[in-house]
Amino acid sequence: MRFFYTLSTLLTTISATPLSSHLHRRAITPGTLSEVTSFGTAPTAAGFYIYVPKALASSPGIVVAIHYCTGTGTGYYNSTPYKTLAEQYGFIVIYPSSPHDGACWDVSSEATLTHEGGGDSQTIAQMVRWTTSEYTADSSKVFVTGSSSGAMMTNVLAATYPDLFAAAIPYSGVAAGCFASASDGVDAWNSTCAQGQSTATPEKWAQVVFDMYKNYNGTRPRMQVYHGSADTTLLPPNYDETMKQWAGVFGYNYDSPESTKENDPESGYTRTIYGDSVQGIYADGVGHTVPVRGDDDMSFFGFAN
Ligand SMILES: *[C@@H]1O[C@H](CO)[C@@H](O)[C@H](O)[C@H]1NC(C)=O
Ligand SMILES: *[C@@H]1O[C@H](CO)[C@@H](O)[C@H](O)[C@H]1NC(C)=O
Repeated sequence: MRFFYTLSTLLTTISATPLSSHLHRRAITPGTLSEVTSFGTAPTAAGFYIYVPKALASSPGIVVAIHYCTGTGTGYYNSTPYKTLAEQYGFIVIYPSSPHDGACWDVSSEATLTHEGGGDSQTIAQMVRWTTSEYTADSSKVFVTGSSSGAMMTNVLAATYPDLFAAAIPYSGVAAGCFASASDGVDAWNSTCAQGQSTATPEKWAQVVFDMYKNYNGTRPRMQVYHGSADTTLLPPNYDETMKQWAGVFGYNYDSPESTKENDPESGYTRTIYGDSVQGIYADGVGHTVPVRGDDDMSFFGFAN
C-alpha cells in the first residue's frame, strides 16, 4: 500500500521536482530527523517526525516525545536529548506535531479523552502502531514523555492507551481529564484546571482514567511525574492532583507514600515514591517547565540501569 502510494506520488511529481530532493524529503534516513507523511488512517491532522538511530537495536523500543504549546516536532527534537540517547540505546523516537493554531494538543474533547474515540490521542496512537509495525518494534518497550501541553497529552495517552505504553514521564502537565471542556471544545484551555482549582479525591481522579477506557483490565504504564513549585502557567496543585490520580489508579494510598527523599535527583528536588508504578519529582523553585532529564528518563524507561 505504502509502496504504491510512494511510487504514484513519485511518478506524478517526478517532472516537477528533481528526483534527489524529492527522495530526500520523503525517505526515512537513519541518523536524520525525517518527516512521516503517510502512516495510515488518523482522525486528526497531527503530523510526525521520526528519528531512527543509525545504531538501531533489533526489535527496538520507541519513545514518543511530545512538544509544548507553540512547539513543533522538529523543535522538540532539537531541544531534548532523545536523539543522542536513541543512538546510545538503539530506540526510535517519534516527535508528533500539533495541527492546532497555537500548537497545543487537544486534551479537552470527549473524543481525545476516550480510547479509540478520535482526537489527537488516537492520531498519536496510530503513529505508534505504524512505527511498531514498520520497524518490528518491541511493543513492551513503548514509552511516552512530553513537556507542558505535551505532558498533559502524556497523561491522556497513559489513560486512553494503557495497552500501548509501558511507562510515561510528564514534565509539568495536569491530570488526565483535568482540561476536559464542558462544551466539548477541541484544544480548549481550561483555566480552572490551569489555576490549580480542579481538585478531587484519588478515587475520583482514578475514575476519570478508568472511564476513558471502560472495562480495560490489562497492565498500565508506570508513571513518573515532574512539576515545579514556581510554575505560574499550570499551578503547583496540579502536581498533587496528578499524583492523586495515578496513586488512585494503581491502588496506592496517596496519603502514605513508600518513601520521600529530599535533594533527589538533585538539590532542591524531592522524590516521592508510591511503589514500582508511581513516583513524582517536585522541583522546588523551578518554574514552567521542569527541564528534561534524559539520563534519568532512560533509567525509568528501563533502557539504562
Ligand atoms: C474545566 O474543568 C472543570 C473540572 O473538570 C470543569 O468543571 C469546567 O467546566 C471546565 N472548564 C471549561 C471552560 O470547560
Ligand atoms: C479481562 O477482560 C477480558 C475480556 O473482557 C477477560 O476475558 C479476562 O478474563 C479479564 N481478565 C481479568 C484478569 O479480569
